[in-house]
Amino acid sequence: MPIVNRIADLHPDITAWRRDLHAHPELQYDVHRTAASVAEKLRAFGCDEVVTGIGRTGVVGVIRGRKGTGGKTIALRADMDALPIEEATGLPYASTVPGKMHACGHDGHTAMLLGAARYLAETRNFGGTAVVVFQPAEEGGAGARAMLEDGMVKRFGIEEFYGMHNYPGMPVGSFGIRPGPVMAATDSFTIDIEGKGGHAARPHLAIDTVLTGAQIITNLQSIVSRTVDPLKSAVISVCMFQAGNAFNVLPQTVQLGGTSRSFDPEVRDLLEKRLREVAEGTAMAHGATAKVNYWRGYPVLSNHARETAFAASVAQEVAGTERVDTDLPPMMGAEDFAYMLNERPGAFIWIGNGDSAGLHHPAYNFDDDVIPFGTSYWVKLVEKSLAA
Ligand code: NI
Repeated sequence: MPIVNRIADLHPDITAWRRDLHAHPELQYDVHRTAASVAEKLRAFGCDEVVTGIGRTGVVGVIRGRKGTGGKTIALRADMDALPIEEATGLPYASTVPGKMHACGHDGHTAMLLGAARYLAETRNFGGTAVVVFQPAEEGGAGARAMLEDGMVKRFGIEEFYGMHNYPGMPVGSFGIRPGPVMAATDSFTIDIEGKGGHAARPHLAIDTVLTGAQIITNLQSIVSRTVDPLKSAVISVCMFQAGNAFNVLPQTVQLGGTSRSFDPEVRDLLEKRLREVAEGTAMAHGATAKVNYWRGYPVLSNHARETAFAASVAQEVAGTERVDTDLPPMMGAEDFAYMLNERPGAFIWIGNGDSAGLHHPAYNFDDDVIPFGTSYWVKLVEKSLAA
């Protein structure tokens, strides 16, 4: 049976799995129901190996081709976690858990990879090994890194990694990809300012931390505009300013917090260095002190050239050449699949989710019409990469 027909057959099942996951969202590493359901299905499909508990709650399935196992071992990755958002879709299969929602389409990613695993396990029309990876905690918990730290690459002999994410605003049935940097490195910071509290009517006897904080925010905006090479990209956003609780009291302390984003390791180092200098220097100019805490988050997600060209050719087979954008601009969001691409070559591709609400919006929903495209992409990626 041709791939398209069999995947059309599987479409109702995959849709049902997706909607079941959607109704039961789980956060971070706490994806026990989801992981159990994934593992149970992988076993039922006849995967050669199903391993749970990798990176705490990650699941890995191994499918060996029937054309010999001398070929490569490639890994396909989906993410399983949801977000702390109150769902506002009103769908019949909307979240049954207050305050939790699949608002990033990871329900769709998991279901499509399960669909591909079922197809690959029943046909095994390849030579080599397909490893399906279901990770927890993509949303800020670095679940990908946890699975790598658990020895996943060595244990399964993974030689390449492929990832996929849906993209609202791009038509259903289309793909976008690019070689090189795709998603930014994401760091976060707090700045604790200490001055001298006092009466609002006698500012000369105090050291005003609110004014100091305001000056620091303003001066931080000079880092990107004045010290980063204008041909390189960077963002510094101050998103928290916590200060005071009375009309007539100058607070002793103030806290600022925010995020910085970059695509280049040197720019990343520069942002951290200048952020410390500007915050501490500005505070000093006001007679206050600033203590900067800076945390490095997900690294840059950078697609490897050869694997990206290959992934684009697979997408073109699925969607048609004109429906694959091979030069999609990078964006300043972050993805922990970056850790996998730092371990092994591979590529991350966007798949159109049509005219839906944006990712992380309470009205967002994964479009089930995307399923045949995503599932076919995974299947063809394996059959083409591991053609015996
Ligand atoms: Ni996501």
